Amino acid sequence: MWASAEKKLIVRVCMGSSCHLKGSYDVVKKLRELFEGRDDVELLGSLCMNNCSKGINVEINGKIVSKLTPENATEVVLKEIRRITGNETQ
Ligand code: FES
Repeated sequence: MWASAEKKLIVRVCMGSSCHLKGSYDVVKKLRELFEGRDDVELLGSLCMNNCSKGINVEINGKIVSKLTPENATEVVLKEIRRITGNETQ
């Protein structure tokens, strides 16, 4: 577990137009697969995070993580979650 069902890890994917054009919907699909069946993570969409030039952007518990692609999303998000939670297990 990364968090608890009561105090979930909040992951927001930017769905603003710039990130959308770079493939944020495909990032959402990858993260849905990654988080499937978990009750300790809440995956949400977000309006523009005002960081368009570095998109695709994802915010994890308030920290913006940039330069995601559909291809690297799973790896980058997992790495950041492990850094935030200090938890190597899934
Ligand atoms: S559209 Fe994603 S940061 Fe602006």
